[in-house]
Amino acid sequence: MRTDQAEEPAPLFHHPDRNLALELVRATEAAAIRAVPWIGKGDKNAADKAAVDAMRAFLATVDFDGVIVIGEGEKDEAPMLFNGERVGSGRGPSCDIAVDPIDGTSLTAAGRSHALSVLAVSDRGTMLDASSVFYMDKIVTGPEGYGVIDIERPIGDNIRALAAALGKDVDEMRVAVLDRPRHEQLIADIRAAGAGTRLILDGDVAGGINAARRGTRIDMCVGVGGSPEGITTACAVKALGGFMQGRLAPKDDAERERGLAAGLDIDAVLSIEDMVRGDNTFFVATGVTDGALVNGVKREGPIIRTESVVLRSKSGTLRRIEAEHLVEKWLDPEYL
Ligand code: FBP
Repeated sequence: MRTDQAEEPAPLFHHPDRNLALELVRATEAAAIRAVPWIGKGDKNAADKAAVDAMRAFLATVDFDGVIVIGEGEKDEAPMLFNGERVGSGRGPSCDIAVDPIDGTSLTAAGRSHALSVLAVSDRGTMLDASSVFYMDKIVTGPEGYGVIDIERPIGDNIRALAAALGKDVDEMRVAVLDRPRHEQLIADIRAAGAGTRLILDGDVAGGINAARRGTRIDMCVGVGGSPEGITTACAVKALGGFMQGRLAPKDDAERERGLAAGLDIDAVLSIEDMVRGDNTFFVATGVTDGALVNGVKREGPIIRTESVVLRSKSGTLRRIEAEHLVEKWLDPEYL
């Protein structure tokens, strides 16, 4: 046996833990800060690239062994943070990771509210890889949705059932939906049931989180959005104790076939547990622009302020982290 060989360092932790989640906030903060010069500049790809580069550089400094399950896409189209890429230092807990350096790239490019930088982690092998089917139908509510909501029932029935569980009149119910032509009928049905819509331009991760949290202006978030965003939302909703169901929504037969070939059950109703298994998930988000969940990045003289949330499923805690960063450090493009 060779004695001159350095021993493999012992893993620091076997599972992602709260320390890791707090470290990972640095990655969403960095992505949000680097996206700022692109807010309102009309170039969503440049905003996304700045956030991707920053998130990737920061992830490399964190002690964990991450595999991206939900990333920027397949390696061919996404040179960085692609699905399957290993991130982190390689030492420490083995995790699945979902990254969305900016959820709301168009919002950012237009200078609108509600853009977030997000990521979620869970134990290795617990996150559903739904990347072969781009869209997912989703329904998210607070904990009152359990035993009450069923994505397969008409939306009016779900709204009435949730209103009863919340002890509200139906006309007080507020339902968030992405404002898309594909939701024309859904929006009409929500209004016909007597509820009000909150149409969101983009960013259904924040919409889902606000539906699952207490004390927000949204009772339910429904409709078809990205399936990557669906899995990321599931990590957050799990930590909030909220209710969520999803169902993959392939655009055409070719996408359905790709999903089947990838082993996905296309027609199944997916519970949160189907989307992310176990009780060790973390969700981290930093505001890029102001929103209902967190404020966006603000420059005040020599200081850059960021606001983030860290959600942990094991404890059900939502931590709010306000950070002050020194502008002079961030002038260096290599700063980590
Ligand atoms: P991007 O920031 O990646 O563009 O995603 C924004 C978003 O609104 C998601 O929150 C949502 O799930 C998805 O796009 C909806 O897709 P589409 O714009 O094709 O309806």
